[in-house]
Amino acid sequence: NWTPAQIIEDQIARVRDQVGDRHVLLGLSGGVDSSVVAALLHKAIGDQLTCVFVDNGLLRKAEGDQVMETFARHMGVKVIRVDAEDLFLDKLKGEADPEAKRKIIGNTFIDVFDAEAAKIEGVDFLAQGTIYPDVIESAAAKTGKAHVIKSHHNVGGLPETMKLKLVEPLRELFKDEVRKLGVELGLPYDMVYRHPFPGPGLGVRILGEVKKEYADILREADAIFIEELHRADWYHKTSQAFAVFLPVKSVGVVGDARRYEWVIALRAVETIDFMTARWAHLPYELLETVSNRIINEISGVSRVTYDVSSKPPATIEWE
Ligand code: XMP
Repeated sequence: NWTPAQIIEDQIARVRDQVGDRHVLLGLSGGVDSSVVAALLHKAIGDQLTCVFVDNGLLRKAEGDQVMETFARHMGVKVIRVDAEDLFLDKLKGEADPEAKRKIIGNTFIDVFDAEAAKIEGVDFLAQGTIYPDVIESAAAKTGKAHVIKSHHNVGGLPETMKLKLVEPLRELFKDEVRKLGVELGLPYDMVYRHPFPGPGLGVRILGEVKKEYADILREADAIFIEELHRADWYHKTSQAFAVFLPVKSVGVVGDARRYEWVIALRAVETIDFMTARWAHLPYELLETVSNRIINEISGVSRVTYDVSSKPPATIEWE
């Protein structure tokens, strides 16, 4: 009969025992798992922890700043922020295939992380936010998206020359337990209970080729959607909700002038396990507010649609 406080105490003791006075490196993504590991390790070993946060330019609005605010400013965790937007966009240039985009983003992440890690001296351990379902999944040796992403988020591709030993304090925990630990460790509720966000980020929510212009528009649209979901008290009634950028020009009229502008699709689903999902029956008034705000506040968007497809066959993400 474990409480979050007991698990934390137990893990702190184990981590201290494992790493002694050595240094630990952690890839911080801003997601729940790596965030909880960061908070836990900071509590256990303080300055012996260095986090690397790679901003790939495909994050949600203000996400990078929030990560720095929470960990670096408030908690005093050592976080190195790498601004790699240009590099990611450059590597993605001209690529429209979803799986190829995933690979590019994953590989670029590993390159950037490794280059940063190589600059830090005296690191013997690599911490990862592996949780119990990841362990099961790797054991089953499944291939496919989830595996690819986990290996990219959790940095499975570190060069062997680094010879880092792993620290995985969440290995025996389920997601809901990890969340409780996060709250107990003082992480903001909104961070701990945020909807899941794919490793490739907006890279798979911009259909086809990724461009900065598209990412900037999508960030704004997504932020409006999420803000209104919170305001209407619908955020936590959905399992995942986000905007998608469609690189399609649709006609709109402003005054007498016809304009051809981009389309934003809204997606919101309810699901238990993310294997199947039902589109969320959001109130029309909420959809109307979101649509009006997106069209009025974001230049370049003239049309908003709502995705009424369930999974299967439609996946939750559009790519
Ligand atoms: P789909 O689109 O397959 O998504 O119905 C199911 C869940 O997985 C997430 N997802 C990903 N997560 N890397 C990730 O880390 C990916 O490449 C990826 N693709 C989908 C998706 O957001 C949803 O929660």
